[in-house]
Amino acid sequence: MTLTEGHLLEIGQSSASARFDALATLFDPMTLRHIEDFGIGLGWRCWEVGAGGRSLVPWLAKKVGPTGKVVATDVDTSWVTTLARPPIEVRVHDVAAQEPPGERFDLVHARLVLSHVPDPERALRSMIKALRPGGRLLVEETDLGLQPLVCPDECGPEEQLANRLRKGMGRLLAGRGIDVAHGRRLPRLLREFGLRRVEAGTHFPMATPACAALESVTIERLRDQLIAAGYASERAIDRHLANIAVGTMDLAAVPMVSAWGRKP
Ligand SMILES: C[S@@+](CC[C@H](N)C(=O)[O-])C[C@H]1O[C@@H](n2cnc3c(N)ncnc32)[C@H](O)[C@@H]1O
Repeated sequence: MTLTEGHLLEIGQSSASARFDALATLFDPMTLRHIEDFGIGLGWRCWEVGAGGRSLVPWLAKKVGPTGKVVATDVDTSWVTTLARPPIEVRVHDVAAQEPPGERFDLVHARLVLSHVPDPERALRSMIKALRPGGRLLVEETDLGLQPLVCPDECGPEEQLANRLRKGMGRLLAGRGIDVAHGRRLPRLLREFGLRRVEAGTHFPMATPACAALESVTIERLRDQLIAAGYASERAIDRHLANIAVGTMDLAAVPMVSAWGRKP
C-alpha cells in the first residue's frame, strides 16, 4: 500500500466512523424506543441486518442476555467484528443475495440498508422469511422527498446555499437510480408482503450538533461527485462546510421513516 492509499483509507475510515456516530446519535433513541415497545427481553433472538457501526448491537445483546442471540450481518463487518462474543454472532452476509442466516428470529431490524441494495424487495422477503410466527420486523429508511430542505428556515444566503447543495444531492442520488422516496413506501410493502399490525412513524431531527456532523460528512463524501455532475463548485462546498463549522445554521436531517409489523 502506498502512503497515499493509506492516507485515503484513513480518511475513509474516520469519515465512516463520524457518519456511524452521527447516525447513532440522531436515530438510535427512536430505534431503541420502537424495539423496547415490542417488548424485547431475555432470550430473544435478533437479526441486525447491515449492522454498520457499533451502537445497536451491544444494546441488543444486553437486552437479550446470555440466553438470547444477536446475529449481526453486513457485507462489511469490519466495524462490528470485535463485538463477536456470545450472545453476539457476526457474519459477512449480503441480505439481497443470500439466504437468511437462520430462522425463527423474534426481531429483525434493518436501518438504512434497503436503499443500498439492488433488490430491496428481495431483501425484505428474506428478512420476513427469517421471522418466527409472531416475530417483529422493523425497517427504517430516509425519505428525502418528505422534507427536501437541509435548512427548512431559509433565512439567509448560508441557508440558501445549503439548500441548493441539498437539491443537487437529491438529483445526484436520483440520477444514480437511488430511490430517495423509499421511506414512505415501507408500510405498504410490509402489508403487501403479508405482515400484520403494520404501523409507521417518522423522525425528523433538527438543529442538533449531530445534524451538522452528518451534513458535513455527507457533503465531503459526495464532494467529487457533486462537482463532476455540475451540481456544485469546489468553492461553494468549501463555503458551505465553513458555514456549518460556524454553528449558527439550523440544519435538518433527512426524515427517517420507521415501519414495523408482525409475521402472522
Ligand atoms: C448507511 S449504513 C447503516 C448502518 C446501520 N444500519 C445504521 O443505521 O447505523 C448502511 C450499511 O448497510 C450495509 N450494506 C449495504 N449493502 C448491504 C447488503 N447487500 N447486505 C448487507 N448489508 C449491506 C453497509 O455495509 C453499511 O454498513
